[in-house]
Amino acid sequence: MEILNLIKERFSPYEFTDKELTQEQIELLFEAAGKAASAFNEQPWRFVYALRQDQEEFKNIYDCLVEGNKGWTAKAAALVITVVRKNFTKNENENRVAKHDLGLAVGNLSVQASSMGIHLHQMAGIIPQNAIDKLNIPKGYEPVTAIAIGYYEGKTGIKERKPVNEIAFKGKM
Ligand SMILES: Cc1cc2nc3c(=O)[nH]c(=O)nc-3n(C[C@H](O)[C@H](O)[C@H](O)COP(=O)(O)O)c2cc1C
Repeated sequence: MEILNLIKERFSPYEFTDKELTQEQIELLFEAAGKAASAFNEQPWRFVYALRQDQEEFKNIYDCLVEGNKGWTAKAAALVITVVRKNFTKNENENRVAKHDLGLAVGNLSVQASSMGIHLHQMAGIIPQNAIDKLNIPKGYEPVTAIAIGYYEGKTGIKERKPVNEIAFKGKM
């Protein structure tokens, strides 16, 4: 029994090559994201994205990032703002697990990207109000993170992880 290489070898780079992503490739990533499980099959995840070759759209998303995330993302092949629908569609009750389900979808996207030799770098450092204003995010939806997507050719940058006995507890925590 072994952990999948796709999972083991993933890391978030701080630089990207010039190689572009195609429309077909990015749509495939979102298709993988959309296969995730979600509470009541609500599929609360939404993705607003821009390819670097579409300069105006790319800049709009770039302008939603905090300064600390701006240097190294300028060369990403694509930028994404992740968004959740905050309430369930069927009754408009709060969906307490919407962000959980968004995370599952991004997890799928991440594994699919790895299988295609594509790297992600996710970011909490966004300016949500900029996203709401610049990207037409409607009421009832919340921008959550950004994702830089692209190709990387440097050496691997796999980081340390907590051992399993610090994150999983048999019976009681
Ligand atoms: C939800 C989320 C938010 C993050 N926010 C940022 C960020 O704003 N800026 C940044 O440089 N990295 C950010 N990261 C990247 C993490 O620092 C990185 O995933 C973590 O250090 C583990 O490294 P690895 O992804 O290379 O394994 C974020 C990652 C996640 C999942």
